[in-house]
Amino acid sequence: MAIVWFKTSAVKERRTEMAYKPAEKRYEQMKYNRCGQSGLLLPAVSLGLWHNFGDADDFETARAMMHRAFDTGITHFDLANNYGPPPGSAERNFGKILKQDFGAYRDEMIISTKAGYLMWPGPYGEWGSRKYLLASLEKSLKRMGLDYVDIFYSHRFDPNTPLEETMSALDTAVRQGKAIYAGISNYKPGRTAEAVKILRSLGTPCLIHQARYSMLDRWVEDGLLDLLAKEAIGCVVFSPLAQGLLTDKYLRGIPADSRAAKPHGFLKREQVTKEIVEKVRVLNEIAAERGQSLAQMALAWVLRDRRITSVVIGASRVEQIEQNVAALARPQFSNDELGHIDRILREGRRTL
Ligand SMILES: NC(=O)c1ccc[n+]([C@@H]2O[C@H](COP(=O)([O-])OP(=O)(O)OC[C@H]3O[C@@H](n4cnc5c(N)ncnc54)[C@H](OP(=O)(O)O)[C@@H]3O)[C@@H](O)[C@H]2O)c1
Repeated sequence: MAIVWFKTSAVKERRTEMAYKPAEKRYEQMKYNRCGQSGLLLPAVSLGLWHNFGDADDFETARAMMHRAFDTGITHFDLANNYGPPPGSAERNFGKILKQDFGAYRDEMIISTKAGYLMWPGPYGEWGSRKYLLASLEKSLKRMGLDYVDIFYSHRFDPNTPLEETMSALDTAVRQGKAIYAGISNYKPGRTAEAVKILRSLGTPCLIHQARYSMLDRWVEDGLLDLLAKEAIGCVVFSPLAQGLLTDKYLRGIPADSRAAKPHGFLKREQVTKEIVEKVRVLNEIAAERGQSLAQMALAWVLRDRRITSVVIGASRVEQIEQNVAALARPQFSNDELGHIDRILREGRRTL
């Protein structure tokens, strides 16, 4: 009995010791950008929970990262139904952290989730039907312990469901009060234009498009960004560090604790090619000349385009969040620097 009492009080003591109180100056260093022409401001750097928040990961590290993120002014936390592993566990862990530490701060947070990828067996567990999207949102809310999310996304275009149906599910989610805004992700420019038109006709404008963009993957420059600017829609960028490739971590091989080394990481060893590492080595020199880490330069490079509202970073430790937010201290590029970077990306080496 005495032992039980001792254990219980030790746990309580640890909890009290670790009660989270956000930094008072949390809004002083972050930059907030308007999302398209909406009323919503998003932090220039947001935190995504795709990796490192699942049951396969360390809960206390995940919790510490959320604390530090919020302390640095990151108000936007990006999730999806399938983040883990296992799928759903990132939302569940995020919900636990919210309940433990962020109860008083919900109105200071923008929480997004998505549906589109496989979540449960059978014909209603993925893609873009109303049946799947609305059931998935319900489950996401339960896992996170929330009444609503701020942004609900269609995670991918479904070629076999009428786009009107997918968009009507987003509209319904907003009308039900289960989402405040609607967004789309990974839609190509043509489908984006159609989706935007449908959503507008339903009276629920498309707030945002979430797309992959980095120095190593520039597809959005080919029409999507122009379209979003024309339609006054925000663009939130994912994998701005190409899952960690655009940092100095792979310059001397694949570290054991890196995403590429983890069996459940989406970055595979084969993607860390000699050609990419050589490019990254030269980019790393340019970053050093700018007085930045490569991660910081890569984020500043994405944010140099005013059509980008926010970069959603991933992180495996607190220090990465700190370093990445500090990228905002050195945002400018000279035309020479941009020209050098373009040439390196094209030719894989420094020509000047
Ligand atoms: N809409 C979609 O379809 C979609 C798809 C993918 C992602 N996303 C969203 O975008 C978010 C970010 O994606 P991502 O994780 O691929 O982003 P990322 O920022 O390109 O990569 C994050 C990884 O880079 C490494 N890293 C970060 N900062 C670093 C630093 N300062 N120094 C060294 N390494 C650093 C860490 O890897 P290590 O683990 O190796 O330390 C970290 O996990 C996701 O969490 C998700 O919310 C959306």
